[in-house]
Amino acid sequence: MSNTENNSSSGLRRPELWAIPQHNITATALDAKAEVLYERLKTIAAEHQDVRFATSLAAEDMVVTDAIVKSGAKISLFTLATGRLHQETIEMTAQVQKHYGVSIASVAPEAGDVDAFIAQYGLNGFYDTEEAKKACCGARKIKPLNKALVGADAWLTGQRREQAVTRSDLPLRELDDARNIAKYNPLFDWTEPEVWAYLQGKQVPIHPLHFQGYPSIGCEPCTRAVKAGEDIRAGRWWWLQKDSKECGLHVK
Ligand code: ADX
Ligand code: SF4
Repeated sequence: MSNTENNSSSGLRRPELWAIPQHNITATALDAKAEVLYERLKTIAAEHQDVRFATSLAAEDMVVTDAIVKSGAKISLFTLATGRLHQETIEMTAQVQKHYGVSIASVAPEAGDVDAFIAQYGLNGFYDTEEAKKACCGARKIKPLNKALVGADAWLTGQRREQAVTRSDLPLRELDDARNIAKYNPLFDWTEPEVWAYLQGKQVPIHPLHFQGYPSIGCEPCTRAVKAGEDIRAGRWWWLQKDSKECGLHVK
């Protein structure tokens, strides 16, 4: 039997899905990495008036959420409620707010923008053309992101360099040209095992889809589970090439 297949009880072979990676990071090494992260967050909060963190509730964003709470950095949280998220993500948002006693502002798209997209391209028109995908992400993510950042002078993401070819040069601090404010990627130099070591070592709530073969989680119709050994973003917009798997949230 190959590494990526196994026998189900029916005798059919099915692919083995991605699973949360094992790691051999010691508690001391993890604490040192965490300390650097907490210091980064405190420095960012001290240098700006109004810092906001964009959370999708997936693994990296849960590391940042936990670190914001533990560091005491004054950073508020918001999520882009696109209207196409998994039910699990919606439930996770409620669970995380309760767990940490924090508020996560839910920023939804304008009904008129969604209606206009559906009228022009159809509800799931994003599968058909790049133009339609851009329009859907524009209405459901980019415009709401602009709205979520009105009044902020800096924002944070959970992006990492290792995640994608499009992120290999990611810095800690960059200029968000579109909004002319600072943008920070405090996990830019974290590895995938470090993310999982943090989540498990510090008992952070984990999005349930990570236990079902999803290393990366976005909107429900544009995200699927991946096979063991596949790229961690292979399940995001799987019908597109590796170098075009960005929705515009992070395009310069
Ligand atoms: S995406 O651009 O391909 O969707 P990805 O899922 O890797 O991005 O997430 C990268 C970062 O974008 C996250 O760490 C988070 O900061 C932000 N982000 C992505 N989706 C959302 C969302 N629905 N709400 C808020 N922030 C999000
Ligand atoms: Fe639309 Fe898919 Fe983009 Fe979500 S990820 S906004 S459903 S195209």
